[in-house]
Amino acid sequence: MGFDGSTVFVTGGAGFIGSALVRHLLDKSGIFVVNIDKLTYASNLDSIPQANGHPRYAFAKLDICNSAGLRALFERYKPAAVMNLAAESHVDRSIDGPGEFIQTNIVGTFTLLQEALRHWRTLAPAERDAFRFLHISTDEVYGSLGPDGLFTETTAYAPNSPYSASKASSDHLVRAWHETYGLPTLVTNCSNNYGPYHFPEKLIPHVIIKALAGEPLPVYGDGKNVRDWLYVEDHAKALRLVLTHGKIGETYNIGGRNERQNLHVVQTICDLLDRLRPSLHGPRRKLITFVSDRPGHDRRYAIDASKLEHDLGWRAEETFETGLLKTVGWYLDHEPWWRAILERGYQTTRIGLVQSGTAAG
Ligand code: NAD
Ligand code: DAU
Repeated sequence: MGFDGSTVFVTGGAGFIGSALVRHLLDKSGIFVVNIDKLTYASNLDSIPQANGHPRYAFAKLDICNSAGLRALFERYKPAAVMNLAAESHVDRSIDGPGEFIQTNIVGTFTLLQEALRHWRTLAPAERDAFRFLHISTDEVYGSLGPDGLFTETTAYAPNSPYSASKASSDHLVRAWHETYGLPTLVTNCSNNYGPYHFPEKLIPHVIIKALAGEPLPVYGDGKNVRDWLYVEDHAKALRLVLTHGKIGETYNIGGRNERQNLHVVQTICDLLDRLRPSLHGPRRKLITFVSDRPGHDRRYAIDASKLEHDLGWRAEETFETGLLKTVGWYLDHEPWWRAILERGYQTTRIGLVQSGTAAG
């Protein structure tokens, strides 16, 4: 079952991972993609250059909380599958303003599930059997690891940030819509992505852009928090594989076995930039600045992806070293893409430091 020749809804297709997925589907499959996106601050339709005039692409500007709008799209396009990536995705923002995260990540997923279910019930039996609802989630739902061990698909949920709690809620809704109503769902939980077209609020592009400007490079806390990095194009390939070959009702963890301490990540970016674009002011490591820690900062994430590897034959193609070299090179070669974001008013100042005891909207 490949979905070639069928229509697939991709929500959040103007975001970082969604755009990588849309590029992958347009370039490597015969799927007709309908990209449904509200176009928040994090979106960028320039991230899908091949979409312009593409015969297998349509775009709908829509909030996934808008049930009437979603219903009209389901009736118009009659999709064979839905891949849900629309979300508020930045942990620091969720600390300052959790409301949007509750709205999009929980209410939006609920609304999408309801409209997908309504559509699924109208399908003929063969189409109903083939239909899939793939919900894209995060390893942050599992909380924080100590120095040892890995997150598996059976690790108990223990989210610590408003963002991860909202994603955990959405995962539970998806599970319930399968168990209760029989909707053919799949869930993926992935580790930290990086690569081209990454919005500059996230660690890797943030550091690249600040280092090029000769500005201080903020490392939260002691810099020893560990993230497990996956090149975004490897994630896009995994998502297509799970959509086409995943077992209904199952969860798949996705990760590249690339655990690195944050300080190491920042130092490596400095060294790569020094090599590819030397600075008159000397080595960039001297820009590294330790700043106050993120409230509720999870210490370590690490994914056991063996289920996806054994059951579906997936393997990450990039190591952290090859992927980071490509990424730094991409930001050097695509300055107009990220400079346009800065010119639209995006500020690279610190957020997410709400005082304990205060509540944000
Ligand atoms: P992103 O913030 O770059 O993009 C999110 C996209 O969703 C944007 O284009 C935005 O406009 C759209 N969107 C937001 N609210 C919407 C709404 N109400 N209706 C319609 N569209 C809306 O996020 P990302 O990093 O690409 O993450 C995509 C998904 O993958 C998210 O669900 C996230 O939780 C998950 N995820 C991300 C990572 C990561 O490292 N970035 C890792 C694992 C899982
Ligand atoms: O694990 C998957 C998650 O990865 C996704 O679900 C999220 O959507 C995605 O944003 C990402 O979350 P993180 O919080 O891990 O990513 P972020 O890039 O914000 O931070 C990575 C690490 O770097 C984290 O430990 C905080 C730290 N950090 C971050 C920034 C922006 C710094 O030290 N300095 C910074 O300036």
